[in-house]
Amino acid sequence: MSELLPHLAFEAHEHSLLNKVILVTGAGDGIGKQAALSYAKCGATVILLGRTVSKLEAVYDEIMSNGGKQPSIVPLDLEGATLQHYQGMADTIAGEYGKLDGVLFNASLLGALCPFAEIKEKEFDQVMQVNVKSQFLMMQALLPLLKQNQTASVVFTSSSVGRKGRAFWGTYSMSKFATESMMQLLADEYKNKALRFNCINPGATRTDMRAKAYPGEDPKKLKTPAQIMPTYIYLMSDVSRGVNGQSLDCQPK
Ligand SMILES: NC(=O)c1ccc[n+]([C@@H]2O[C@H](COP(=O)([O-])OP(=O)(O)OC[C@H]3O[C@@H](n4cnc5c(N)ncnc54)[C@H](OP(=O)(O)O)[C@@H]3O)[C@@H](O)[C@H]2O)c1
Repeated sequence: MSELLPHLAFEAHEHSLLNKVILVTGAGDGIGKQAALSYAKCGATVILLGRTVSKLEAVYDEIMSNGGKQPSIVPLDLEGATLQHYQGMADTIAGEYGKLDGVLFNASLLGALCPFAEIKEKEFDQVMQVNVKSQFLMMQALLPLLKQNQTASVVFTSSSVGRKGRAFWGTYSMSKFATESMMQLLADEYKNKALRFNCINPGATRTDMRAKAYPGEDPKKLKTPAQIMPTYIYLMSDVSRGVNGQSLDCQPK
């Protein structure tokens, strides 16, 4: 199957993202950390957004010691951030780099896996704030900058439970449906423009979030974040120009 799908067959190299400026949310850990490292290895300048500064600094150091371009760090807790924070960030990116070529919306909370009747209002609000509302506000703030760009790519992160509801997956599942919807309506609004919007479903991947959701599972049986990177790099690269409104699986069944 992988020979047939360009995002899985994609072979990245050190110039795949040369001179691009790419913002990655949740860049301190898991898949976001690997995406930041991989984008930098492909020649991009990466803007590392996250809430735990020590983790972002470790990624910064790793990029520098790999010989990558100097990244920026945006310490931001998506739970408390407002439109004003995102507008300030957009102004800083415009002032520093004069452009933005890509955004990977990756940061998410898993929330409680429980029966629907037991979902707490506070938890619902927290997961929706981090997984959905922050993306909505950040997108509105970044659109003017992204629209100036002839090849910009926005990538949202979905999940299999964002396409088909599953018992006990609660607010997380609802937030991923909303994410797919945000991607689809933006893709449709911009279908005749250069700016494009797509989703990635990473599939089961060896991270803390996966371990939290499946505590009894042997993580060694799962793909590592590094192994699912072809799709992440493909969607940010100019090779995928014209791909819009897709929801791509890193690990199709
Ligand atoms: N792993 C899988 O099997 C799998 C499967 C399907 C979909 N996904 C999706 O893939 C994406 C990455 O997941 P992952 O497994 O890499 O998760 P992870 O290991 O839990 O990493 C999530 C990242 O998001 C950040 N984050 C969480 N809340 C935040 C907040 N309020 N403000 C700023 N940053 C925040 C975390 O920061 P801290 O490190 O500071 O907490 C962390 O860097 C998510 O969208 C997830 O839903 C994962």
